[in-house]
Amino acid sequence: MSQNNNREQWGSRIGLILAVAGNAIGLGNFLRFPVQTAQNGGGAFMIPYFIFFLILGIPLMWMEWGIGRYGGKFGHGSAPGMFDVIWKHNAAKYFGSLGLFISLVIMIYYTYIESWTLAFSFFSISKTYFDLHSFDAMKSFLYSFQGREVSEHFSTIWPSYFFMLITFLINFWIIYRGISKGIEKLAKIAMPLLFLFGIILAIRVLTIGTPDPANPDWNAMNGLAFIWNPDFSRLGSPSVWLAAAGQIFFTLSVGMGTIQAYASYLKPKDDIVSAGLTTAATNEFAEVILGGSIAIPAAVAFFGITMTTQIAAGGAFDLGFVSMPLIFEKIPFGPFFGFIWFLLLFFAGITSSVAMGQPIVAFLEDEFKFSKQKATAILGIVVLLCVQFVIFFLKFGFLDEMDYWAGTFGLAVFALIETVLFMWVFGGEKAWNEMNEGGNFPIPRVFYYVMKFITPTVLLIILVWWFVNDALPILLLKNVNSDNIPYIWGARALMIFLMVVIFVLIKYAWDKKRQSA
Ligand code: ALA
Repeated sequence: MSQNNNREQWGSRIGLILAVAGNAIGLGNFLRFPVQTAQNGGGAFMIPYFIFFLILGIPLMWMEWGIGRYGGKFGHGSAPGMFDVIWKHNAAKYFGSLGLFISLVIMIYYTYIESWTLAFSFFSISKTYFDLHSFDAMKSFLYSFQGREVSEHFSTIWPSYFFMLITFLINFWIIYRGISKGIEKLAKIAMPLLFLFGIILAIRVLTIGTPDPANPDWNAMNGLAFIWNPDFSRLGSPSVWLAAAGQIFFTLSVGMGTIQAYASYLKPKDDIVSAGLTTAATNEFAEVILGGSIAIPAAVAFFGITMTTQIAAGGAFDLGFVSMPLIFEKIPFGPFFGFIWFLLLFFAGITSSVAMGQPIVAFLEDEFKFSKQKATAILGIVVLLCVQFVIFFLKFGFLDEMDYWAGTFGLAVFALIETVLFMWVFGGEKAWNEMNEGGNFPIPRVFYYVMKFITPTVLLIILVWWFVNDALPILLLKNVNSDNIPYIWGARALMIFLMVVIFVLIKYAWDKKRQSA
C-alpha cells in the first residue's frame, strides 16, 4: 500500500465532526426543507423522508466516509483517484469525474445564494428594508437586489456583486488556509454560533403567541401543526417520494464528492462509524427540529395558513428573503433577529461551500502536485468566471438549470456509481471491513444488506423515475419560457464544457503519472 503520510490532517475529532456537520448543514436545512415539507404533505412527507434517510442517507454517509478514508491512505482526496484505487480499471478515474463536476457546479451557484444571506444580515441590522410592508414591495426589494428587475430599491446589480465578492474572498481565504487551519477553525466558530442562533430563533418563534388578536388561529402552534399534520393522501404521489429522496441527498451532502474529500484527511484507524452517524444525526437535528420550527411556524403566526401555503409554493427564497424580513419588521428587536437569521444562513452556507471547493483543490494538489496556493487560485478563477453567468442570467433560469442537473439529478447518479463500485466491484465484505475499521462499535449488520442490495436498487428506481417524469421534460425544454431557452442552453454548454475540461485534466494527470512511474 502506498501510504501517503504527507497529506494534511484534521486537528481534533471534535473539529472534524463539526466540519463534516458543517458540510452537511446548509441552506438546505433552513430554507429547502421547510418548503419541501409544506409542499409535500406536511407530516406525511416525513415518512418517505425517514425511510430514505435510513436506506439512502445513512448508508451513503458511511460508504462515503469509507471511500474517502480509503482513498486518503493512497494520497487521493477526490473521486477520480479514489475510484482508481477501489477499481483497478482504466475507466474508473473517469467515473470519478462526477465527484469533481458536481461539487464544482454546486459551489458556483451556491456561493452566490450564500452572498445574499450576508447582504440581508447587513440590510437587517441597518434596517434597510424596514420601510417595506407588503409582500410585493419586499419581493421587489429582493428581485432588484438580485438584478432581476430595476426598482427604486436597487438600480444596479453592483450591491449584489459586492456581497458576492466578499463571500467569494472569505470562502477562498478559508480554503487556502487548509483543512485544520481554515475549514476546521471555521467550523469550530460557525457551528456553535449557528446552533445558538437557531435555538434563539426557534424559541422566539414558538413563544410568539398570537401576534394579531383579530386572527386567533394565527399562531406558531398552528404553524407547527401546519408543517407536521400528515396528509397521507399525498403518499400515493411519486413526486412526493422523489422530493423526499432529493432532500435527503442535498441536505446530507451525499453524492457530491465533498464527504469523501473531508474523510480523505482522516488517519487510517479513525472511527468513521460513530463519526458518520453523529454528523448525520446532527444534520437531522438542525433540519427537522430547528429548520422545521422557524420559518414556516413564523409565517403562519403572522400571515395565516392560506398565505403561508402560497409563500411555500413560491419557494425557498420567498420564505427566507421575503416573508422573514416582513416578520422582523413586526417584532421587537427585529433588526437583531433579522441579523442573526441571515447570519445563521450565512454560516450554514459557508461551512458547506468551502467543502464544495475541496474536491477540486485536493485533485490539483494530489494528482498534479500543485501547491495549495496554486490549486486554490485555479479553483477561484474558475468559480469567479462561471459565477458571472449565474449572476447576470439569474432571471433566465441559468441557476435553476445548474441546480437541477448537478444539485438534484447528478447526486443520485454519482451515489449509484459509488455504491456499485464500493459494494460490488471493490467487494461487499472488503468495503464492510473498511468502513468498520477503527469503529468504536460495529455498524449493524443489516446495513450490509441495505448497502449492497437496497441502496443501489432504490437509487436505480429513483433515477429511472426521475428521468422519465422530471428530467426528460426538462431536457426537452417543456414548459420553458421561450425567452429563457438560449440561456438554458448556455447553462448546459457551460456544464458540458466543465465536464470536458475535467475529463482532459484526469487523462493528463494519469498520463503524466504513467510516464514518471
Ligand atoms: N448539504 C448542504 C445543504 O443542505 C449542501 O445546503
